[in-house]
Parts: sequence; structure tokens; C-alpha cells
Amino acid sequence: MVERVYNFSPGPATLPVEVLQQASKDVVNFKETGIGLIEMSHRSKEFMEVADTTESLLRELMEIPDNYKVLFLQGGASSQFYMIPMNLLGNGKKATYLNTGTWSKKAIKEAKLFGDIEVAYSSEEQTFNRVPTQDEYSVTPDSEYLYFVSNNTIYGTQFPDIPQTDKILISDMSSDILSRKIDVSKFGIIFAGAQKNMGPAGVTVVIIRDDLLEKTPENTPTMLTYKTHADKGSMFNTPPCFAIYAVGEVLKWLKKQGGVSAMEARNVEKAGLLYDCIDGTDYYRGHAEKSSRSLMNVSFNLPNADLEAKFIAEAAEIGLNGLKGHRSIGGCRASIYNAFPKEGVEKLVAFMKEFEANNKG
Ligand SMILES: Cc1ncc(COP(=O)(O)O)c(C=O)c1O
Repeated sequence: MVERVYNFSPGPATLPVEVLQQASKDVVNFKETGIGLIEMSHRSKEFMEVADTTESLLRELMEIPDNYKVLFLQGGASSQFYMIPMNLLGNGKKATYLNTGTWSKKAIKEAKLFGDIEVAYSSEEQTFNRVPTQDEYSVTPDSEYLYFVSNNTIYGTQFPDIPQTDKILISDMSSDILSRKIDVSKFGIIFAGAQKNMGPAGVTVVIIRDDLLEKTPENTPTMLTYKTHADKGSMFNTPPCFAIYAVGEVLKWLKKQGGVSAMEARNVEKAGLLYDCIDGTDYYRGHAEKSSRSLMNVSFNLPNADLEAKFIAEAAEIGLNGLKGHRSIGGCRASIYNAFPKEGVEKLVAFMKEFEANNKG
């Protein structure tokens, strides 16, 4: 078995090693067919079964109600930034957005191409170090929907509670889908690029309530209309076969781990180890306000940029990889998604303590 390092990359990110091993076999010879998975027709019996299994596992694990469609799309999570307003707005229709980081900002920019966008809250002036509480914003009464990013991958913030609204609720869950229990029935659309908590890059999962499929303006291009993909079970055109397969394998693994609740408990424990370490000293400073802290991405700083560079380099030497913070805020970031092992977090905490002792000046 290959020796693995602890990979704190924000995405594409650590996947369960047993999934990688299975995939390496299936790519060459899928279920003894003599054909590799990525050579197989997407309409073959074998691949249809893969797609069906992936969808039904996602439905089971997230308890997705029957009046929702699950779509496997391409174009990355970023394509949802325009597909959502393209399908739900038009003709001067309004939508409300919460601006809590780079990914909401990009979504707002795209949405403005299609409708009248109200930004009801922004933490940009505080370098996006927090998310709002319910009483800090109000949704414009004639808004079609309220849009928020559940977990802000770069800044390490996460909504502890799902915003409450009587509007259609839309969430980018790219970096925390399947990491904690959520009530899907409260949402109109949930979407997520797979490459953090679900699998490799290449597929974006969109969970959409049936009634929203009827709202798309007529002049919308076929490929960009949700209903096109919903009506054809995500097989209107060639889907991202390998990515769908790999998501299915990750979901099988997740189910074996005890499902989303078990994952949530593990995520609370893992993040707790890191935040306890940060809170136990002035040497490390967490970027996020405590009440907005993410369980998935822990962004923190050292006393200065030189020490941060040294920390990242020395960590890599002992097999703690990918700790460099995003270029927009610098510092360090530990991304600890579902498949990231607790032992890796413990090793990082031990290293943080040792580094502090050796470099405290
Ligand atoms: C929360 C969030 N949304 C959207 C994206 C963009 O995803 P993609 O690269 O699949 O377009 C990212 C990427 O890191 C992200 O973290």
C-alpha cells in the first residue's frame, strides 16, 4: 500500500483510501466485464446501475423527499451561479443574497445579469470573518429566493443554523454537503461541486424541488434548463461518468461509517481539537468569529507571514500537506472534510504545539 500523507487541501480533497483503491481497479476492468469504467457507454446496463445507485444512496443519506430531483451536472459549482438566476429570475424579478465570501460574491455578480439583486448582508468589510444571525438581515418581500453559502471554504465560516425564510431557500453547500444533518425539505435548491466532501472534480450535484423546474423562462438554452436534465435523469447528454461513479463509492463508504449523523459527530470532534488548540494560545489566531466557525475549513494565522511560511514548509516535511491559506487572506487553512482522518488532525495539533514552543521568540 502506498504511503499517504495527510492532505489538508480545500478541494479536490482527501478521499477515503478504500474508494481510491476500488476505483483504480474499476477503471481498468469494471465488474469483470473486461471494459474499464471510463470506457463504458453511459447508457450501458452497468453504468445506468452505477448512476441509479449513486442517486439512491444520496437520497437515503440526505433523506431527500420524493418531490425533489437529484441532478448530476457539469460546469462546476460555479455554473450554478448563473444557472440559478437564469432559471428562476428574468423580467425584473428580485432575489436576495447573503454575501459571506468569495463564492457568494461571484454568485451575486452572475445573478445581477438576470435580475434585480438585493444584498441583504455582507461581512466583506470584516474580511468575511462571520456569517449573519437571523436578525441581522431581512429578505426583500418580493424576492423570488434567498441565497446563501452554507460553508465559506476560504474564510472558514459556516452557518450554524439554516436561515429561516418563507421564500425559496437556495444554498451552495459545495464545502459542507453531507457533513451535518440538514432538512432538505426547507430548501428549493441545494447544490455542491463534488470535489470536497463527495468525490473528484467533474460533477456538480443539484437537488431541486419539482415545482421550480416549471419556472424557467422560455428563451433559456436547452442545456442550461434544469428541466432538460431532470426529465432525462441527468442523461440528456453524456454525463461525467467517472465522477458519478466515484461519488457513489464515497457514499457507500459514508453509509458504512454510520451515515451523516455519525459523520457530523466526527466532524465536531475533529474541528474541536483544532479550535481548542487555537483557543489555548495567543500564538495562533483563528480567522472566523467563534460563533461562525466552520467544521470543515479551519483558517488561522501565526504572528507574521514569515512564520506562516516556515510553519507550512515544516509541516509539509512531516507529511502535513496543503496547509497554505487561500491567496485572498493568506495565513494557514486546514481543510478537514468527512474523509480526513482524526489522526491527521491530532498530528497537526501536536505539530502546532511543538512549532509554537520552538518559535515563540
Ligand atoms: C463554497 C464553494 N462554492 C463554489 C465553488 C466553486 O466550485 P467549482 O470550482 O466547482 O466551480 C467552491 C470552490 O472551492 C466553493 O468552495
